[in-house]
Amino acid sequence: MSFRNDFVWGQATSAYQIEGAAFQDGKGWDIWDVFCKEEGKVFEGHSGDVACDHYHRFREDVALMKKMGVQGYRFSINWSRVFPNGTGTVNEKGLKFYHELVDELCAANIEPYITLYHWELPYELYKKGGWMNREIVEWFSDYAAFIAKEFSDKVTHFFTVNEPQCFIGLGYMTGVHAPGLKVPVRDTFLMAHHVLMAHGMAVKKMRQTAKRDILIGIAPTGSMSYPDTERPEDIEAARMHLMQVNPDLQNWTWNVTWWSDPIFRGEYPEDGLRLYKDYLPTMTPEDMKLISQPIDFYGQNIYNGNRIRMGKDGKPEVVKRYDGFPKTALGWPVTPECLYWGPYFLYERYQSPIYITENGLSCHDTVSSDGKVHDQNRIDFLEGYLKQLKHASEDGVDIRGYFHWSLMDNFEWHSGYADRFGMIYVDYRTQERIIKDSGYWYEKVIRENGEFL
Ligand code: FCB
Repeated sequence: MSFRNDFVWGQATSAYQIEGAAFQDGKGWDIWDVFCKEEGKVFEGHSGDVACDHYHRFREDVALMKKMGVQGYRFSINWSRVFPNGTGTVNEKGLKFYHELVDELCAANIEPYITLYHWELPYELYKKGGWMNREIVEWFSDYAAFIAKEFSDKVTHFFTVNEPQCFIGLGYMTGVHAPGLKVPVRDTFLMAHHVLMAHGMAVKKMRQTAKRDILIGIAPTGSMSYPDTERPEDIEAARMHLMQVNPDLQNWTWNVTWWSDPIFRGEYPEDGLRLYKDYLPTMTPEDMKLISQPIDFYGQNIYNGNRIRMGKDGKPEVVKRYDGFPKTALGWPVTPECLYWGPYFLYERYQSPIYITENGLSCHDTVSSDGKVHDQNRIDFLEGYLKQLKHASEDGVDIRGYFHWSLMDNFEWHSGYADRFGMIYVDYRTQERIIKDSGYWYEKVIRENGEFL
């Protein structure tokens, strides 16, 4: 089998990055609204105030997706648009927007995949301690349960949180992302534990409030590891490298197992418990039981990886990249192998169906004199990556779908609008959309279920 017959070819976005209408129709402030107003935090003072104005143009955007033959659309709900204070009163206008979006998608035969938390923490909850406050387990799960109740008759697939590695690591350790803090390492472990418990409690309550059976997963991220050669020792080195926690305490969030082992195996990885022991909060067996609620699939955002070989000392070592190694506009390395070996190792360890919930690149896209956007770089990149994914599927990895990041150019967090990740070009002066060459290419990939790759 190459790609499964029911493989889902999708696009991904997130609320803050595309919606705009940041202060309209009763939406509450989220931590990104606050962060973007701070001088010097985001490239040239950009913000998501208007973004792609998707809030007003979603019908046009759904029509463009339809034109590209897209089968699934992963988007996030901005918590503070539905609950301006994070808890309590519902903002009906905000809720209506998501209902209309979902209805528009269903009418276009595009399956909605909802992410509940793509970093839009309501500012009111931040003021109460946000992820530091254990009550967030209730705050988040109540919100999640409400969304499941509202949408479960039309939506089957839900993701709890997107990339905890990022929102804790960049939000609270380097401070590059909202809320822009550098807190003691101890606090970040407490927050991480709360994130995982909030995830577990959300899964539990969503299954109770949903009107019919729904499928729930999570979407973590991380740099993947792939072997230098196919010799067993290099494969083992890559496996060890991917599945070890990060010994650098200031960057500890960048690892797979601290986040995924508790969910899928009910325990934190042993190497982490040893290395991080001086910084850990109390973690009870009841907590672990909550965190390890059975879920239905594993979402993974994959952008790149490291080439690994077995060192003479029996430890994995990173192979230095050659001079002039290919990179994206953002400077990220181009490493297609990560889309074979990433899913391969994750499936081996967690035995859960996998969705690639994000993958893509930023390019220096421009509109050419013929009015088109010729992003051959993106096509080449995706072709290389998707070939590897197909190969993984052929080798028995249970891959259910692929969501390209991103549907359209958007607000790339602290880089503002400087980076273009979309298959649709957005002219932010006029909000004009242009499907890039890659979008037409992707339409063919979808039509042929990736057979020509
Ligand atoms: C991921 C984020 C997504 C986007 C891409 C480029 O880390 O989940 O919002 O910014 O990177």
